[in-house]
Amino acid sequence: MTLTISTLQGIQVLDSRGRPTVCARMVLSDGSVHKATVPSGASTGRHEAKELRDKGTTFSEKFFSGSSVHQAVWNINNVIAPVLIGSLPEIESVDAFLIAIDASPRYEVIGANASLAVSLAGAIAQAHSHKISLARLLRPTGPLVMPMPMVNILSGGAHAKGALDIQDVLVIAHGASNIAQALSWISAIRECAAREGAARGFVTNLVADEGGLGIAFTSTDQACAFVVDCINLVGLVPGLQVSLALDVAATQFFDQGNYISRSSGKVHSAQQWSDQLISLINSQPIISIEDPFAEDDWQHWSQFTAQVNESIQVIGDDLFTTQLNRLTKGIEEKSANSILIKPNQNGLVSNSFEVLTQAKAAGFSTVVSARSGESEDSWLADLALGWSAGQIKVGSTHGSERTAKWNRLLEIEATEETVFSKPF
Ligand code: PGA
Ligand code: ZN
Repeated sequence: MTLTISTLQGIQVLDSRGRPTVCARMVLSDGSVHKATVPSGASTGRHEAKELRDKGTTFSEKFFSGSSVHQAVWNINNVIAPVLIGSLPEIESVDAFLIAIDASPRYEVIGANASLAVSLAGAIAQAHSHKISLARLLRPTGPLVMPMPMVNILSGGAHAKGALDIQDVLVIAHGASNIAQALSWISAIRECAAREGAARGFVTNLVADEGGLGIAFTSTDQACAFVVDCINLVGLVPGLQVSLALDVAATQFFDQGNYISRSSGKVHSAQQWSDQLISLINSQPIISIEDPFAEDDWQHWSQFTAQVNESIQVIGDDLFTTQLNRLTKGIEEKSANSILIKPNQNGLVSNSFEVLTQAKAAGFSTVVSARSGESEDSWLADLALGWSAGQIKVGSTHGSERTAKWNRLLEIEATEETVFSKPF
């Protein structure tokens, strides 16, 4: 029986930070219901697809200080649904309809929060109509490639009231033999960080948007050394079994060509900032660094990537914003060697996959990523598996919006044939 879309409805729901976001609810002709809720960022890149938010002028909008999404929901109900009802839930055709409705490159008319919600709900519904999981729909044969997790331990920046200059200190358990083991190691490190932080007299009760601990260290070096201590304390070997990754999110503290430390107020030229990062990388077991420079500081990205010379992973998040034109420039200019793939920076499932595919073709590693504002949905885990992304980043081991993704990966590892990706 060929299933078609019988109802499509947008609903304003809440994300993990208590802010409004868009859920698309699709009902197929067999009566089955398929939903997708879109995530939302705090340290958003300037070049991301456009998330439609209301102005906060009407009575009901003002309670969310202008972050309500009634217009995006209205667009699903009144602009998108009339076109899609009666058609097949197929990724390519749903996305083609969405592009036909809004040809602006960043979905400024219907809103990328509306487009992605519908694109995802369609993909999930399509998997149902084929009686398979979303991961299997995207990778029909062969073992599923279980992504290597990159997990927040400490957070600062826009996610934790500036507790650290950089946004996150994360860990990668590359010595683990499967995701269950990797997450058990990382969960122990996160627990140790809370315990040890308190024992050393730090305030440890600030939990950041993505579940990392917002401990106010005086320097990034001190924060990294602390996480290394925790890796040792749980009985693992830093650098051999578990290494560090940084998300610098440097756009957040870039001002007129300089990088300005929030904690010390010290102004660094781009060259001084680069030297500081290189010395940090040389003194700590860091194997991956994200957004070391600001989103449009292309020149220093290329210089830095040449200097580290493949010794570590250099990931573009705000730099590329999951946009093909920015990735193409980055490949040409050798700005990075890795890309973060955030579907809501792009606005469509199929185009996000296209960006990931082009990145892989250029020899980049790919990391599928959640946002600071998340939902209880787990489709991101299926995308990472189905696209053989190799790595996944969803925040900490804390918070059900984070564990929903980890638990989906654990479920797949327990029930399907998988191979654990070892990108390092
Ligand atoms: P965001 O942060 O979701 O707040 O943008 C995540 C990240 O920078 O990777
Ligand atoms: Zn980032």
